[in-house]
Amino acid sequence: MLKRLIEKLQLIRHASQRVLSMNKRNLDYIYPNNHRRNFPIADNKLLTKQILADSDVVMPETLATFSSFYELSNLADELNKHKSFVIKPAKGSGGGGILVFVDKEGDHWLTPGGKRYTLNAIKKQLTDIIFGVYSFGLSDVAIVEERIIQHPDITCLSPHGLADVRLITYQHRPVLCMARIPTLASDGKANLHQGAIGLGIDIKSGITKHAISLHDSITHHPDNNELLIGQSIPYWPQVVAMSCVAASKAPLKYLGIDISISESGPVLLEINVRPGLQIQNANQQGMRTLLEAIRHEVQNEY
Ligand SMILES: Nc1ncnc2c1ncn2[C@@H]1O[C@H](COP(=O)(O)OP(=O)(O)O)[C@@H](O)[C@H]1O
Ligand SMILES: [Mg+2]
Repeated sequence: MLKRLIEKLQLIRHASQRVLSMNKRNLDYIYPNNHRRNFPIADNKLLTKQILADSDVVMPETLATFSSFYELSNLADELNKHKSFVIKPAKGSGGGGILVFVDKEGDHWLTPGGKRYTLNAIKKQLTDIIFGVYSFGLSDVAIVEERIIQHPDITCLSPHGLADVRLITYQHRPVLCMARIPTLASDGKANLHQGAIGLGIDIKSGITKHAISLHDSITHHPDNNELLIGQSIPYWPQVVAMSCVAASKAPLKYLGIDISISESGPVLLEINVRPGLQIQNANQQGMRTLLEAIRHEVQNEY
C-alpha cells in the first residue's frame, strides 16, 4: 500500500519536473535568449513586419498608418477605398484597440458582430490609438491592414472568430503548438483566459490531439458541438516552416509565433517574447524535456 503511494508520488513528481514553470521559463529561457533591447521587434507590429519583409513570411498587408492626429485629415480618402479591413495599435497587446470591419453599408462600416461605425467613430478610435490609450500611455502608430479571412476548414472548428495557431520556437526550432479557438464565451476573441479553446496539435502530423476550455478537458466545441480532436490543420507543413523562418529572422531565441490560416495559406499575425504556459495543458505535455533536448542538440552541433 505504502509502496504504491510512494510510486504514485514519484510519478507525479516526475511529471511536474517536465512542466515548465513561469520562474524557469523566465530565468532559463526568456532572459538568456531574448535580450530586452530586441523586445520591440516583437512588441511593435510595424517592426515585426519590417524585419520579416524580405522573407517568405506572409503578414497582413499594411494599407495605411497614422502616427499623428494631423495625418488623419486624409482618412476618408484612405478608408473609402476599402470595405473590409482591420485597425490596430502597433504596440498593442491582448486584442486591445483592435477593430475588425467586414463590410460597408452606405456610410457605415460593419464589425463581425453587426456594430456600425461611421467615419468619425473610426477616427475617434484611431485618435485613441495614436495617443497611447492601448499602449500604456505611450504614443503609438495606428495601423490599417488587410483583414484575414480564415480557411473554411478552420471555420468549422472556429465558427465565432479568427482562430490562430500558437507555436513555441526555441533556437528557431518548433517545441509545442496549439490552436486558439474563439467561442461565444470568449466573445470571438482567441484569449484562453476569456474562454477560448486551447487545442493541442501534434507538430509532426498537424492533427489535433487534446483540447481545454478554461481548466477543463473537452472533446467538442461548446457552441456547435463540432469534434475538435483528430482534425487535420490545413497547410500544416507551411505553418511550421513559416514559424521557423520567422523565428530565425528575429534575434530572439524563445518565441511564441501566432499564425492564422487563410484559404491561400498561413499568415503571421504577431510574435511574442513572453509566450504563456497554458500550451502545456492544451497538449497535456510539459515543455521542459523538449526544451532541454533542443538545448543539447544545439550544443552538440557546435
Ligand atoms: N489582419 C487581421 N485580420 C483579421 N483579424 C485580425 C487581424 N489582425 C488581428 N485580428 C484579430 O485581432 C486579434 C488580435 O490580433 P493581434 O495582431 O494578435 O494583436 P494583439 O497583440 O493585440 O494580440 C486576432 O486574434 C484576430 O482575432
Ligand atoms: Mg495576439
